[in-house]
Amino acid sequence: EQIEKGGYDHFMLKEIYEQPSVIKDTYRGRLNSAQGIIKMSGIEDNLEKFLNANRIIIIACGTSWHAGLVAEYIFEEFARINVEVEYASEFRYRNPIINSNDVVIAISQSGETADTMAAIKLAKEAGAFVFGVCNVVGSSISRESHAGAYTHAGPEIGVASTKAFTTQITVLTMIALRLAKAKGTLSHSDFHRYLLELELIPEKVKEALETNDIAEEIAATFKDVANCLYLGRGYNFPVALEGALKLKEISYIHAEGYPAAEMKHGPIALIDEHMPVIVVAPIQGHYDKIVSNIQEIKSRSGRIIAIVTKGDTEVRKLADYVIEIPETSDALSPLITTIPLQLLSYHIAVLRGCNVDQPRNLAKSVTVE
Ligand code: G6P
Repeated sequence: EQIEKGGYDHFMLKEIYEQPSVIKDTYRGRLNSAQGIIKMSGIEDNLEKFLNANRIIIIACGTSWHAGLVAEYIFEEFARINVEVEYASEFRYRNPIINSNDVVIAISQSGETADTMAAIKLAKEAGAFVFGVCNVVGSSISRESHAGAYTHAGPEIGVASTKAFTTQITVLTMIALRLAKAKGTLSHSDFHRYLLELELIPEKVKEALETNDIAEEIAATFKDVANCLYLGRGYNFPVALEGALKLKEISYIHAEGYPAAEMKHGPIALIDEHMPVIVVAPIQGHYDKIVSNIQEIKSRSGRIIAIVTKGDTEVRKLADYVIEIPETSDALSPLITTIPLQLLSYHIAVLRGCNVDQPRNLAKSVTVE
């Protein structure tokens, strides 16, 4: 097992560090920025289905559901397609309205999650076209889907999903870009800019991994807290949810993710000098808005840990701790902002003596209801 961990203390850490290479593996052979090409056979063969779709329904569970939420923002912005993101377990039991011109995208690392599988069967019976985004080749969900595109994350052993999440977002971004090209919903220059930026993501993830030391220091300060709040807006709202999920899963600290502006409708009541608030605040996106959200936390004595873009000046003045990440466009930022949050959870869990790779009560793949 030590050999399999490749010199890392845990599979989770190894998998976090594999992200630059597996993101590259995921777009390799599918993306060519010089030629302006994005090509995935599952999409090319079924392009008409996507172009004629009334809407896209994304179904998933857990971290995969968070990747679906990021995709909702990307699909709507890039390809101007109406997207709904559903928990598979809710979707399957609520007599959903599904039409034959709906496209269902099922996202699943393992390809074996029982609720996601059941939701797919339901969608197929209603005549929808089902596209699977799975990591495990030949898995049940990949076989049950009409078509699909694999993430190339390689085996993910740690129960808390890390590299599966970022490779899912990579595949979903490529699908959105391909549809945008076909529909003409992105300008030629934006389309090319995004292809180039996607190719730069592995290098930027590598740079984001350099936040490991500061993440470890911050973890030492906060390891004994009872609660944690994660805030983000827009593309980084799902990142806040995923950050909170990672912390809950492996450190057993209660954590909640919230859209930053919703804080005033409830969570703000929780803020005092004992409450750490992790704010995802890259420069692209709703920066001014998030700065004022941070001010609201500060004036209530909350302890602020902010994920900021390198060179940030405003948030730095307000936050107790900043973690700097490289700049990328708003739409691609979840691939970068999520990295320090993974590291932070990892170190907090290690310092608390938790079983990082196999947290209590959780399973890597939930094959029963
Ligand atoms: C379990 C795992 C999570 C995962 C979720 C969905 O809860 O512990 O890490 O996100 O299942 O799994 P899937 O394989 O469908 O992505």
